[in-house]
Amino acid sequence: MKSWKVAGLTVLACMAGGAVLAGAAVFHGWYDVSATGSHTLPVHDLLDVAQTRSVQRRAAGIAAPDLDDPDRARNGAGLFRANCVQCHGAPGVAPESYALGLNPPPAALVATARERPAPDIFWIIQQGIKMTGMPAWRYRLTDAEIWDVVAFMRVLPTLSPEAYREWEGGERTSAPALPGRPEAQARVGSAAAGRNAVQQYLCATCHVIPGVAGARHHVGPSLAGIADRSYVAGTLPNTEANMQRWLLAPGQVKPGTAMPDLGLTDQDARDISAFLQTLRQAD
Ligand code: HEC
Ligand code: HEC
Repeated sequence: MKSWKVAGLTVLACMAGGAVLAGAAVFHGWYDVSATGSHTLPVHDLLDVAQTRSVQRRAAGIAAPDLDDPDRARNGAGLFRANCVQCHGAPGVAPESYALGLNPPPAALVATARERPAPDIFWIIQQGIKMTGMPAWRYRLTDAEIWDVVAFMRVLPTLSPEAYREWEGGERTSAPALPGRPEAQARVGSAAAGRNAVQQYLCATCHVIPGVAGARHHVGPSLAGIADRSYVAGTLPNTEANMQRWLLAPGQVKPGTAMPDLGLTDQDARDISAFLQTLRQAD
């Protein structure tokens, strides 16, 4: 046989083998679909690039109207409050408890507004994102209303928690009441459990956290090397007990902070602070 024939047959055999393996993996249920398991770093990055490129391509022909009109942003603030804050939160406002458990986690839109151009954001709101919790709004909001929301999102990164409440009409002053959860048998903090827990409280949507998939946003300070910092949020000496206090109730430690109260249990706070202790400067 000619050598190119051998090569061709080998490639075909490998492809067939791969297809059989993939079929077996699907059939036997080897793939873990649970929302508590995070994607590995390479899979996460691949999906992220696929999503970004898909949106860029489809939003390429969209021209944004004048987004600086203050009426537009004001109307957008009302629509944002009615339809978006429940999942995405806002400065100083935590998402509802069901949103914390979504995988992928709803992005902190402060970061999105900084990182993505307006037409891309318009397209995402209009069309939604398949296989995530992001709904398509085109059958529920008009195009003009979606642009209003985009206009408000441009204001969002400039707002302190207090200023956000004013845009909202000043009614909602605290985070939504999160349902109490039964505390499992208390145990000492575990860094491994804490690494998983950070995915369940949207920490990754606001902070750079080394080794955690998707944690590359600068809404809050980077947590790289946090174990070596002298103070937590510039106010409390950085001990494990103080870190737990901060994670459980940032608004009580530092009134007016943009870090929301995410409704952690004591055990989650112990686990996450144990995990944060592993983030040394050299990493
Ligand atoms: C039921 C929960 C839910 C609601 C309600 C919701 N979203 Fe989302 N949204 C998500 C999830 C989940 C994602 C996917 C996160 C990802 O893959 O980046 C997402 C993604 C997005 C993104 C892309 C973020 C990025 O940086 O990749 C934008 C923009 C967005 N949503 C805007 C909105 C707006 C505006 C509203 C209100 C009109 C809204 N969303 C309502 C859950 C929700
Ligand atoms: C909506 C965005 C947001 C989310 C979600 C969030 N944070 Fe923060 N975080 C912030 C901001 C903003 C600050 C700065 C607060 C300040 O100094 O007032 C901060 C500060 C911190 C600090 C202090 C950092 C330092 O340099 O002293 C730690 C530690 C921290 N966050 C951990 C977490 C953990 C762990 C989670 C998940 C349980 C989390 N954050 C979720 C926005 C967020």
